[in-house]
Amino acid sequence: MQYPKDVRLVEVGPRDGLQNEPMNTSVEFRVELVNRLSICGFETIEVGSFVSPEWVSQMAATDEVLARVTRRSHVSLVALVPNLVGLNAAIAASVDEVAIFTATTETFCHKNTNCSIKESLQRFQPVLKKAQERSISVRGYISCVVGCPYEGAVNTRQVVPIVEALLDLGCYEISLGDTIGVGTTHTIRELIDAVSQLASLDKFAIHFHDTYGQALPNILVALDRGISVIDSSVGGLGGCPYAKGANGNVATEDVIYMLDGMGVNTGIALDDVVDVSKFVFSYLNKHPASRVTSARL
Ligand code: HMG
Ligand code: MG
Repeated sequence: MQYPKDVRLVEVGPRDGLQNEPMNTSVEFRVELVNRLSICGFETIEVGSFVSPEWVSQMAATDEVLARVTRRSHVSLVALVPNLVGLNAAIAASVDEVAIFTATTETFCHKNTNCSIKESLQRFQPVLKKAQERSISVRGYISCVVGCPYEGAVNTRQVVPIVEALLDLGCYEISLGDTIGVGTTHTIRELIDAVSQLASLDKFAIHFHDTYGQALPNILVALDRGISVIDSSVGGLGGCPYAKGANGNVATEDVIYMLDGMGVNTGIALDDVVDVSKFVFSYLNKHPASRVTSARL
């Protein structure tokens, strides 16, 4: 197998993780979390989202978080936005980058954003236009690239047109989300092979939730195919509010432990992330999903 020498980790815990916590965490805690992650050396941190607080109350006050975090020149702070209302709020909060999101299935798209896939893509047109005018980079997420909690198995043929649409809109990177963590090495290999026909693989990131414990082998397969950007969340925080039963993202420290062992560079020290993970789970009064942090405890 062949692996990249360097991998960029996109830390999504403060958004994808905390959006799924039953209690709304305080602004102080969210600020401290982002600051600690910044010091670890992540280049990209998803701080929160500008979505309707009626839909995801955990991400309310993302503007306050962004106002209070310590900005570091090497860190791009990202916020998730579903529409122009969200983008305007993100611009007012001086984000470095935004992420838009859609899905491969109509049911998931409706449950998550109250619109069809086509409508979601239409909403993104003014978002991309305005973001480009402001020189704000836009990342595109596709949820349910392997399976949907409502419609079942997803074929790569359903993923391809969404990738094409997001690339046409001007997203600089597409994050392929196995939202409910049902992928296996076989389905992930097929997926990566399919998207590699559409654009160079440096346009893609992988975003695997670890529900069935397959995230690490699936990451290995994706790396072998040529992917070098991995979304992960500290401690394995999270899930998706519109995908009941879905576990958190693959834990950042578990990915780093694996990559360290393979000699793949992330620029981030394992022990620093384990410390942040301990801080997070002590605050949440829970046990981390991360196997590495659990072992260290
Ligand atoms: P809607 O109810 O259809 O919105 O929700 P609307 O356009 O009809 O507006 C209703 C009200 O919401 C209005 O206010 C709007 O101004 C307001 P009112 O006039 O009633 O006072 N509104 C907003 N407020 C704050 N921020 C906004 C915004 N937009 C409208 N951006 C909407 C549509 C898209 C807003 C809603 O469905 C929503 O917020 N959905 C977000 C759901 C979400 O955050 N899901 C989790 C993130 S996705 C994910 O986790 C997957 C991912 O990790 C990848 C993976 O793992 O697959 C990315
Ligand atoms: Mg996710």
